[in-house]
Amino acid sequence: MGKPLFAAPKGTRDLLPDEAGRFSRIEAAFRRACGLFGYEEIRTPHLENVDLFARAVGETTDIVEKEMYTLQTKGGDKLALRPENTAGVLRAYLEAGLHRTAPRQRLFYIGSMFRHESSQKKRWREFTQAGVECLGSPHPEADAEVVALALHVFAELGLEVRTELSTFGCPDCRGRFRAALAEHYSARKDGLCPDCARRLERNVFRLLDCKDERCRAMAAEAPTIERFLDAACREHFAAVQEQLRGQKLEFVLNMRLVRGLDYYNRTIFEFFLRTECGRQDALGAGGRYDGLGELLGGPRVHAVGFALGVDRIALALAGAEQRRRRVEVYIAAEPGEAGVQVPALARDLRKRGVSCATDVAQRQLGAQMEEADRLGAMFAVMLGVREVVPGQAVLRDLDSGVQRSHDLSQLVDEIVGRVEEKRRELRS
Ligand code: HAM
Repeated sequence: MGKPLFAAPKGTRDLLPDEAGRFSRIEAAFRRACGLFGYEEIRTPHLENVDLFARAVGETTDIVEKEMYTLQTKGGDKLALRPENTAGVLRAYLEAGLHRTAPRQRLFYIGSMFRHESSQKKRWREFTQAGVECLGSPHPEADAEVVALALHVFAELGLEVRTELSTFGCPDCRGRFRAALAEHYSARKDGLCPDCARRLERNVFRLLDCKDERCRAMAAEAPTIERFLDAACREHFAAVQEQLRGQKLEFVLNMRLVRGLDYYNRTIFEFFLRTECGRQDALGAGGRYDGLGELLGGPRVHAVGFALGVDRIALALAGAEQRRRRVEVYIAAEPGEAGVQVPALARDLRKRGVSCATDVAQRQLGAQMEEADRLGAMFAVMLGVREVVPGQAVLRDLDSGVQRSHDLSQLVDEIVGRVEEKRRELRS
């Protein structure tokens, strides 16, 4: 047999059923949470103008400098596959004139993003983000709301996360912080990596984010924003914390938190798996970005949001997962004994909302029971088994192994009742 001619391009991958199932579960939990918080879906194109990201995310960021997939159309337009979606959502909001007609918007999106990352674990070149953008409020209640929404999703998925919270101040605070950082790094200029030496003049904040060993050591000794915050930014930050505490949402302050995008001001945050410590990849991140509207040629639009990394969350779920349930009931039968009973029972169960699978390969009863196990069924029904009284079937609980015979006339009601009971147990 020859080798297949094609593989998924480097940094991309197929989501086979196990993984695709996890994605669907995450997306469903996210959609449910968005519904509970009153967020509405927005869909924007995967392709945007390159300049949108250069302006919004920042020309000197890794995303724009190194990671964007760009192309030129035959007509000469320079486009990029979106590396993130905050810029696209705000562009759409301004383009539709919502800032005039309906300025307060609670929006969410789910979709693919593209970044030409160097090959690393937990970094894909096409990945899925599930994000929200709360537009039109400068108040700390909005910051706390989006954090609460993200934490609701994680709780629904049974993941324990650590929320790291910080602030990036306003342009005035940042001016003072920038000067202090420039002084810190200028004194250590010779030790910087070539990228950082170049960025020192253009955007000193980027140096805090460098992955180079020596630059990281310098970042650890650099001043933090705290000392440079003005009264209003300090107050906003304190109010966000108060809001979170009021909702009993846990967080830790990390004044060394750095975001890889330039549009943030004031609140910034990241979510990490609580069981992981040390350097790690965030499961999601976000913050406030009140200046982006003006950067895109519109008015000031107060805004705060986040994006969750669905691929990384799926990986975390896979680690915690036991047997995955693909169907609730498996209907097995002695070959040749049960005739049309099997598809008829399957039809009756499906009509009542119970998922089930049957043998379609004419296998022996033993092989059918193995399939029931592989599919993670809660129950197996065995029809046409010789030792059982005619007119009865065996119902086996596959979690406990306990089984009993039931009259065929009562079988559907019995199964539906037992499945509902198990669903309730699983939910509680
Ligand atoms: P970000 O921190 O660039 O923020 O990405 C958010 C999340 O997307 C990350 O925490 C991570 O889980 C996931 N992610 C990023 N890059 C990759 C990758 N190469 N492979 C897998 N997962 C990845 C943003 O994108 C902002 N737009 C978030 C935001 C929304 N801020 C305000 N509103």
